Amino acid sequence: MHKNVDSLFAGLWANYVEITPSADKIHALLSKTSKSMDIVNDHIALRTFDCEKVNLSKLAAHFLSLGYEQKGDYDFAAKKLTAQHFEHPNPNQPKVFISELRVAELSNQAQRIIHKMVEQVAEGATTADDFLYSGTHWNVTKDDYRTLVHESEYAGWMAAWGYRANHFTVSVNHLSHIEELAEVNSLLKQHGFVLNSSGGEIKGGAEVYLAQSSTMADHANAQFSDGELSIPSCFYEFAQRYEMNNGQLYQGFVAASADKIFESTNQN
Ligand code: NI
Repeated sequence: MHKNVDSLFAGLWANYVEITPSADKIHALLSKTSKSMDIVNDHIALRTFDCEKVNLSKLAAHFLSLGYEQKGDYDFAAKKLTAQHFEHPNPNQPKVFISELRVAELSNQAQRIIHKMVEQVAEGATTADDFLYSGTHWNVTKDDYRTLVHESEYAGWMAAWGYRANHFTVSVNHLSHIEELAEVNSLLKQHGFVLNSSGGEIKGGAEVYLAQSSTMADHANAQFSDGELSIPSCFYEFAQRYEMNNGQLYQGFVAASADKIFESTNQN
């Protein structure tokens, strides 16, 4: 496992922009509006299956070993997901949102495909330094991918892309020449980026202390055992946090908003 938070996130970012070139372009665009030229990453999100070998806790171990602490618990009943978020004692380090798909709630056919994939993950793979950006550890056919994505977009995405950051998130609070999330959205649309409009472009708001928006995922070629498919890869998110009554910025997540953000990797 990484000994250093910054090197872990550098590895995650390099892997993420390989299949999310628009994130690199947006990062450059927003850097021009930031005095420090530095974009602060609010959080990343990671996905997995709840199978013992690769479950949420196996991913979380990489962050706990770097001093992160578990904070919120979330349930997404319709998407069959359980999630937790983690925070570092240094509030300038990104938060981490990890979800896992409750495989037993899927059809027998989907369960068989997923169990066959997870069986191919080598023992000990999940503790490797680069596990969180190691991609897939399985061979899966295009037909199996289509079966999964038809039933659970999340399961299909995992089959195609495996372990990597599903998204990074620009902290709007830290942009010095932009005050509001709506301004970020306008700028992105002016530059031709497509936003996720499921549930409205802005999810949440001051009333829940967190407003979020995101691009629709880029498309990239995913490798299957019998060829390639161009499918949604990863997306970029934008978060504006609000002060609570105690004067502190809210640091959690809002389940109703996250539920819609997951749809940024839907086929459109
Ligand atoms: Ni997010």
